Amino acid sequence: MRIGFFDSGIGGITVLHQALRFLPNEDYIFYADTLHVPYGEKPKEEVREYIFNAVDFMANQGIKALVIACNTATSIAVDDLRKKYDFPILGIEPAVKPAVENCEGKRKKVLVLATSLTLKEEKFHNLVKRIDRHDIVESLPLPGLVEFAENFEFKEEKVVPYLKEKLSSFDLKQFGTVVLGCTHFPYFENSIKKIFPKDVDIISGSIGTAKNLKRVLEANNQMNDGTGDIKFFKSGYEVEDKETLSAYNELLVLLDRMSSITT
Ligand code: SIN
Repeated sequence: MRIGFFDSGIGGITVLHQALRFLPNEDYIFYADTLHVPYGEKPKEEVREYIFNAVDFMANQGIKALVIACNTATSIAVDDLRKKYDFPILGIEPAVKPAVENCEGKRKKVLVLATSLTLKEEKFHNLVKRIDRHDIVESLPLPGLVEFAENFEFKEEKVVPYLKEKLSSFDLKQFGTVVLGCTHFPYFENSIKKIFPKDVDIISGSIGTAKNLKRVLEANNQMNDGTGDIKFFKSGYEVEDKETLSAYNELLVLLDRMSSITT
């Protein structure tokens, strides 16, 4: 059976990319809810309905595990999804813990970049409350990066001015770690690096999620002998046109070239 990966759009490919590194002998279904992206600026109840519809669809395809490769969807639905389905469901959370550990000794702060919905949710506030004992975590919603990604716009000339404007009121020297709390954001690693001082670490939760997935499959004796084959779906249908398939596969190649994000 295949492993399901779900996202509002192409962000989840950044997590799938890590899964392919740790689990190259699995086969995958990747589902992008492109009809409803972006999730991060919509009302929570509306987004929950989209997520449950998409996961119903994926469950009907037959999957042995599901990765919610979307921070926003994880924030608002992972606990309830686990109650409904009997396959293992893994989510992705902003990597606040390693970021705080990385900054504590350096007297630096952490900046979490995510969607508005992720940053508003109780899950995020509880996470920060549990870990941020010295009040060093700040956050900023960057919905424009989701938009850029969905338009396949990765050029630094376009992205850097947007980031500069959004970050203009921050003293960037005070940050030791930037957390990419949205799976769309790793595509913009190079642009983000251009804005911050050189010694800032950029981390995302995707490597941790991929490692967890491996652990769960091993523990459940569910490892496969596949080939890393991926079937792509968009809001309820399988993607078969060559142009879209090649655009998705090119994203995996692009991510291969930018492998310096740590976790
Ligand atoms: C979005 O659809 O707004 C982005 C979802 C995410 O948090 O990865």
